[in-house]
Amino acid sequence: MNGRDLVRAVMDVGTERGRRAWRSAWRHRRADALGLPRRGAERARVPGLLTGTEPRPGGGVLRFARSELLVRVTVGGAVFWSWDGAGPTPSYALVGGGPEPDPRAALEPDTGGGWRVVSERVTVAVSRHGAIEVRTPGGTVLRRELPPRWWEPAEPVAGAPVEARWLQRSEVAADARFFGLGGRAGGPRLRDGVYRLWNTDPKGGFGPGDDPLYITMPVQMVVADAGTHLVFHDNSWDGRVVLREGEEGAGSGADRPGTGEVRMEGGPLRCWVLVGTPARVLQGWSGLTGAAAVPPEWALGYQHARWGFGSAQEVRRVVSGYTARGLPLSAVHLDIDHYDEHRVFTVDEERFPDLPGLARELADQGVRLVSIVDPAVKAGDAVHASGLAVGAGGAFVRDALGREVRGEVWPGECAYPDFTDPAVRTWWGGLYAERLEQGFAGFWHDMNEPVSFAPFGDMTLPRSARHALEGAGGDHRAAHNVYALAMARAGWEGLVRLRPAERPFLFSRSGWAGMQRYGGTWSGDVETGWEGLRASLALVLGLGLCGVPYSGPDVGGFGGSPSPELYLRWLQLGSYLPLFRTHSAIWAGRREPWEFGPEVAERAREVLAERERLRPYFLTLAQLARRTGAPYVRPLWWGAPEDRALRDCEDAFLLGDALLVAPVLECGADRRAVRLPRGRWYDTATGAAHEGPGQVLLDAPQGRIPVLARAGAVLPVRSPGGGVALEAWAPARGRAGGGVVIPDPGPGFEVAEVERYAVRWAGDAVVVENEAGEPVEGVEVRGLGPVAGAVEGVPGLV
Ligand code: GLC
Repeated sequence: MNGRDLVRAVMDVGTERGRRAWRSAWRHRRADALGLPRRGAERARVPGLLTGTEPRPGGGVLRFARSELLVRVTVGGAVFWSWDGAGPTPSYALVGGGPEPDPRAALEPDTGGGWRVVSERVTVAVSRHGAIEVRTPGGTVLRRELPPRWWEPAEPVAGAPVEARWLQRSEVAADARFFGLGGRAGGPRLRDGVYRLWNTDPKGGFGPGDDPLYITMPVQMVVADAGTHLVFHDNSWDGRVVLREGEEGAGSGADRPGTGEVRMEGGPLRCWVLVGTPARVLQGWSGLTGAAAVPPEWALGYQHARWGFGSAQEVRRVVSGYTARGLPLSAVHLDIDHYDEHRVFTVDEERFPDLPGLARELADQGVRLVSIVDPAVKAGDAVHASGLAVGAGGAFVRDALGREVRGEVWPGECAYPDFTDPAVRTWWGGLYAERLEQGFAGFWHDMNEPVSFAPFGDMTLPRSARHALEGAGGDHRAAHNVYALAMARAGWEGLVRLRPAERPFLFSRSGWAGMQRYGGTWSGDVETGWEGLRASLALVLGLGLCGVPYSGPDVGGFGGSPSPELYLRWLQLGSYLPLFRTHSAIWAGRREPWEFGPEVAERAREVLAERERLRPYFLTLAQLARRTGAPYVRPLWWGAPEDRALRDCEDAFLLGDALLVAPVLECGADRRAVRLPRGRWYDTATGAAHEGPGQVLLDAPQGRIPVLARAGAVLPVRSPGGGVALEAWAPARGRAGGGVVIPDPGPGFEVAEVERYAVRWAGDAVVVENEAGEPVEGVEVRGLGPVAGAVEGVPGLV
């Protein structure tokens, strides 16, 4: 038991829930003692020497003394390889079976007794020991995988599947930086360390030092001078990734490469690598794992959540607080306290006597209701009974002896739907009918790592718990990390069936590679504090690089009472993130803007108004994320991965192509250094122009954070009259620019039209033209004032 566990154990022991949690944790421990195969003595294995090859479409099979390697380059340039005969499917991440093999790519002999597959975008070379190199077409090595190593039972049990743990070491350029691995609070740049792959509720609020969190994914984005690549180990088991950045001119002057180690407790050794610019790589990733869901238009507005509204009157009071002050509000989220005794798919009829009525009343004011949905079902209640009737054995996860696994969550003793069973997903998806009848318009999946409260050990299901795994069968070791992903699929597909004319609004605390198909996520219980604010941005940036574009933090942090300054800085950051929502724990302080005094209230009004003005831009970014895989929120190096200073810059981001946002993440700051990518950037508050690359020092008084617009950008904004207007930023003299606008085609899955605009100088005027080359009237052109002049590095600032 570590220190944190001890605190948990002592805190819990005095309460009834605590006692139940103790019992449940013991039960889980016993289940594993009985139900998990014993590891026993193990034998290590490496591939050995190459003995032969066999061509296959897009590559071939290379046989080694003790394993075989399949290498395939696909149309579009994605590389797949696997050991021991694993194929790309079955996979929870992929849509379909992955792209087709590239018919022009073939296995051919390489120097030194190795083989290679050459394609237009990438070359894969395999040595006769089984090391794999991914090279650019010019021959630069982006990634070198050393021969893997497996550990398997020395004496396998007859009839039981052979479970091998494995380790794969790799090398990347000395200048490479690592990103991704899901939502990491210490990111976005992943520094030297060990990153576990096991979705985890950190319980009680987290900061940058807490790892892992709710969403882990074996997805790394590696950015180096030589190029960018994404590597995905398609394996849902528990594992660890050890990263170490390299060093140029280390020791004797030679470069020390960056290294990565992936160690998995079981499951297939198979891997995808995508090579190209960051934009290309994420486009490939979204092709592989699915296009991101586009949230409904209203989900791009400001939202207010709270655990502990406690009653319909309190919801009304808070909503009227917004409307009376003329503050925009898009949605209100009801937490577990609106349930009857915390039971999912129920309503506390005393405190919320007419939820459909409340929903209608709010809808009249343009406010939607969003419901929390927890996966754990109270043992013995009506939902549980309906689940027991699913299929032959009921909907719930069972242990190795066939007994339902019980855990402890908010309603008490609970059973867990097995979302890896298609029949269970269908049943669960149907349950959202009750939510729709209650008037809910959106859904917030929580506690789906999944959590079972425990004073010691893992706060989740026993590893021996059995899962359907789409008919393949297996245990929680393989199913844990995809539990929430499969729950999201159940909810999404259910909602599409129930209400086919509307795009569902769904976001989920936990998830895995491919979760963007079913919606977004949020930070979870980020701690109230400046460190939590910083972690909020790290999560959004890191998840975007793993293909999950829609997310955002609990503005103000989950558990505490932020100072007015911290609250305002959080609101300012949040207003430029896709999910813009304030939320807090039942024990935490208020989050309504007017609770922080008149000055903050006034500033908040400006923040919310600016978000409203940018809503059409957010919608365009949502549609672009779906089409291209590019996240709304991008690191500064997005368009210039070769700019090393940008690679290390973690405190600012690009919002689409047009804007650069530099939030204030430090207490007391009223100005900050902002690193600029190349090109001209306008401070949107002052109109001053700055030339990048370089660093500028900009004012950031309490009322605003620096936001810069790229010269030549065209973006859609809401006009004062409520329609969509174009805003253009003057290109530098002699240059041109442009932008796309994708208006919301409606609430459903209608295909959106892309409008393209160009902006250029015509004599002394800046003109904006549509695709037909016709001038567009009524565009606000900004950035026409005098140029402040190029600003070089700021002395004393790094
Ligand atoms: C979890 C969620 C949080 C929610 C609470 C009660 O801690 O992360 O957002 O308010 O549970 O449902």
